Amino acid sequence: MCGIVGYVGNQPAAPLLLTGLASLEYRGYDSAGIALLDAEDRIVVWKAAGKLNSLVESMKAALPQGTVGIGHTRWATHGIPNDVNAHPHLDCSQKVVIVHNGIVENYQELKDELLGQGHRFNSETDSEVIVHLIESSLKSGAELTDAVGSAAVRLRGASAVVAMAVQEPNVIAAFRMGNAGGITIGYADEGMLVASDLPAVLPHTNRVVFLAPGELVRIDHNGASYRSVDGTPVHQEPHAIAIDPGAATKGEYEHFMLKEIMEQPEAVTRTIGGRVLFDPADVMLEGIGLTTEELAQVDRVVLIGMGTSWQAAQAGRYMMESLTGLPAEADNASEFRYRDALLGPRTLLVSVAQSGETADTLGAMEEAARRGVKQVTICNAEGSQATRIADGTVFIRVGPEISVASTKALTGSIVGLYLLAAYIGRERGVLEGGRLASALDDLVKIPRLMGEALEQREWIEELAGLYYKYDHFLFLGRGMTTSTAMEGALKLKEVSYIHAEGYAAGEMKHGPIALIDKSMPDVAIAPRNYLHGKMMNNIEEVRARGGTIIAVVTHGDETLRGKVDHIIEIPETPPLLTPAVAVVPLQLLAYYIALRRGCDVDHPRNLAKTVTVE
Ligand code: G6P
Repeated sequence: MCGIVGYVGNQPAAPLLLTGLASLEYRGYDSAGIALLDAEDRIVVWKAAGKLNSLVESMKAALPQGTVGIGHTRWATHGIPNDVNAHPHLDCSQKVVIVHNGIVENYQELKDELLGQGHRFNSETDSEVIVHLIESSLKSGAELTDAVGSAAVRLRGASAVVAMAVQEPNVIAAFRMGNAGGITIGYADEGMLVASDLPAVLPHTNRVVFLAPGELVRIDHNGASYRSVDGTPVHQEPHAIAIDPGAATKGEYEHFMLKEIMEQPEAVTRTIGGRVLFDPADVMLEGIGLTTEELAQVDRVVLIGMGTSWQAAQAGRYMMESLTGLPAEADNASEFRYRDALLGPRTLLVSVAQSGETADTLGAMEEAARRGVKQVTICNAEGSQATRIADGTVFIRVGPEISVASTKALTGSIVGLYLLAAYIGRERGVLEGGRLASALDDLVKIPRLMGEALEQREWIEELAGLYYKYDHFLFLGRGMTTSTAMEGALKLKEVSYIHAEGYAAGEMKHGPIALIDKSMPDVAIAPRNYLHGKMMNNIEEVRARGGTIIAVVTHGDETLRGKVDHIIEIPETPPLLTPAVAVVPLQLLAYYIALRRGCDVDHPRNLAKTVTVE
């Protein structure tokens, strides 16, 4: 969702801000803007609805040479995506400017108060109240940092804000309240940066600080100082992040989505790397945050996540049950957080959150933390809020995922969950008699098996050519692959805007079967395992009703040949890990169908990479 970049330094700010915003495009947005301080210390603002190109075009005439500025890509909540509602927003006197990520829940109340004081509003956004609040405090003599802090404490809901004012021309102040996305501060040679995410900072520096909720930062040419929004000083030291900025480029690929699909074997190798030993068999997870005694006390595992990470959580449920011997359930975080979930002192909460900043997942984690529940998060983002709330983190280390539609973060999370389940199983003494060795043996085959699944790429591209005109798809799975079917459907609707449903095949007879005819292809995930026979029955039921079937089968399995319209082969895969391999052809199918339909694959309409609102 909304992307934020700010810069104070000795370089022209405009190109730096625009490049920074471009690197945050993956978060999803519908308008963009920047504000600069010009040579006369006036604030100049450019904003445009649509993609960044529209903004760049509108700025071509005269670009000021300012070296201080802030920029924003907006994902609309209050007010349609037009030029006026785009950020940055100015105060009445055009002397203060802000960009905002999040929702001001009490904005109407604040707006009424500010209107009563004579402030004039330009936009329909909730965000604009923030700049008027800051303006009021500055007028009563406050310094920028204090004025920004006083505005922060008036806001209800989660917000991340960056502000600057002509009164203190070389200063930017930013704060984070709650979980509306992060604020990262970058210490570069050419100046100081603030941004909502690392890709905007890493081309300049890997020395960063992450703001915690309730913290405020003041940056100028010389560095940064930190405090809480209510004024208590906070000590923060920059630390070095080990991420290769080259990882955030498309390389030889046309789209990030394809690049990220293709690099999955390498990405999950990084998830596994250094965590598995064979002689004797052992699994090592640094930073798990729970002792053997605490894990011995656990009597139930609850897994949560949103979107693709929820699909990973559902696959994780099977792994937990099988490798730890504990009862496990998976829930959508937005549902979980608002029901009276029965969480006891012996429950372990496992959240899956590649960004570590999804509002609903964080809300559920905070609720569980309030109830004293032990937590581990499966995460890709160092310093993110999920890693702060949880007692421990399994970093999936798949590198930055730029495509909005998640691919390598899913498979990395599945592998991360498997490592966690094996670790807990070992700690609890469940994986005796060679079971741990065999579980790890299965795991280390996965990168190779994913690579073999990727060899079907050309065939799937061809299939996409046959199927891209259909408007409805049904994906069917069973057991471990039910979540894979749901993920296949999710991927297709996300990137190609085709209506698709993912179902447990056993459930098909209870409704979806009424839809089956030639116009709705069925993708049946039917690997050779103990459920193969059951899946065959479901496929026959679809055939009997004239349905078109694409079957995903184990290499060498001839039982379905001639019975279905098309076959996609995947290699023989250990059952618990099938979701990491069987999903690969479904990702490719969604990608190539979207391509044939001319969709903007990396930036699907209305979607955001990190959903920082409920
Ligand atoms: C958004 C993204 C999805 C992602 C989901 C959860 O919907 O578009 O790709 O799976 O958020 O994100 P998280 O960062 O919590 O894993």
